[in-house]
Amino acid sequence: MATVSFDKATRIYPGGEKPAVDALDIEIADGEFLVLVGPSGCGKSTSLRMLAGLEDVNSGAIRIGDRDVTHLPPKDRDIAMVFQNYALYPHMTVADNMGFALKIAGVPKAEIRQKVEDAAKILDLTEYLGRKPKALSGGQRQRVAMGRAIVREPQVFLMDEPLSNLDAKLRVSTRTQIASLQRRLGITTVYVTHDQVEAMTMGDRVAVLKDGLLQQVDSPRNMYDRPANLFVAGFIGSPAMNLVEVPITDGGVKFGNSVVPVNRDALKAAADKGDRTVTVGVRPEHFDIVEQNGGGAAALSKDAPAGLAVSVNVVEELGADGYVYGTAEVGGEKKDLVVRVNGRQVPEKGAQLHVVPRPGETHVFSTSTGERLSD
Ligand SMILES: Nc1ncnc2c1ncn2[C@@H]1O[C@H](COP(=O)(O)OP(=O)(O)OP(=O)(O)O)[C@@H](O)[C@H]1O
Ligand SMILES: [Mg+2]
Repeated sequence: MATVSFDKATRIYPGGEKPAVDALDIEIADGEFLVLVGPSGCGKSTSLRMLAGLEDVNSGAIRIGDRDVTHLPPKDRDIAMVFQNYALYPHMTVADNMGFALKIAGVPKAEIRQKVEDAAKILDLTEYLGRKPKALSGGQRQRVAMGRAIVREPQVFLMDEPLSNLDAKLRVSTRTQIASLQRRLGITTVYVTHDQVEAMTMGDRVAVLKDGLLQQVDSPRNMYDRPANLFVAGFIGSPAMNLVEVPITDGGVKFGNSVVPVNRDALKAAADKGDRTVTVGVRPEHFDIVEQNGGGAAALSKDAPAGLAVSVNVVEELGADGYVYGTAEVGGEKKDLVVRVNGRQVPEKGAQLHVVPRPGETHVFSTSTGERLSD
């Protein structure tokens, strides 16, 4: 077992103008499950391949334990990698697939068999050891690929989208299996996915990348509760956080017909930058509905109700919860919003809601730089 450090590790591909991974700095603890997540092309696979030794590091360093592995060949790094297309050898049995790396390394036959049987037991593959891959389900093949990595007893597991060939249901059950297996084996793991739900449910910590730059590395809880900038705020969470640009007023921000108090220091920080607006983030579950009118002819009260008027376009009923997808007018512009509502009291399509963000549950970001201003 071992720690892993990326120390300002940078990769510039030949002919590339800007780095695919730019001064990546992460310290991964011994036994930790770290997930790298971000949109396509943000540099996740490149980061993992640098750690594996499959990609040159142009500046900075990579360490496994106290070894500087920056310029070591892959075979000397004591890692095992599971890829998206796990490429099992079709003509070999499951047992031979799992033991192949050990055979190449000259490990005695009896020892290979023992290790393969142990791994098969952990992965629930014992009864399939004599089969060829084509006679297995997608999930079973995926477990064979895991088995191939486990028998090598590496210091570090690297996984690059290992679940993306599985259907949605199998992906959910397999992600739980991988996470619990990793915890049981206690092997430091770096796992790449573009799926933020996978990242949040599997990782001890999650690292969000964008355009080769690390945006935030944090526990799933902190990432959700305190996103460091607008990008992370919009990327983590489903449905996504509502992000609304609003004018700064005395003591808060103007949110429709209400002034919502927000952190004073945040507003001062924005004003100091010369900004007259901030971008307020509100998760769908953090709106309070202050008034709800039915669709069609329902009368509106004479006084303009508090909060922001949202016209309901679509209602998604999920049983316990419902999500309202609506439109509001903010600062003269139409803005799409998502509001979570009680699944037993969903408004009708065409109805109008008035919503206010729950005090203390707002996130404030600088409109100009995107950085988080509230604490
Ligand atoms: N061999 C290569 N030569 C040149 N550029 C490359 C090479 N491999 C990747 N890139 C570029 O580097 C950037 C990062 O690619 P990378 O494969 O790390 O992204 P990723 O986050 O894994 O994306 P995805 O989710 O699509 O797998 C992209 O802009 C990509 O086009
Ligand atoms: Mg990739």
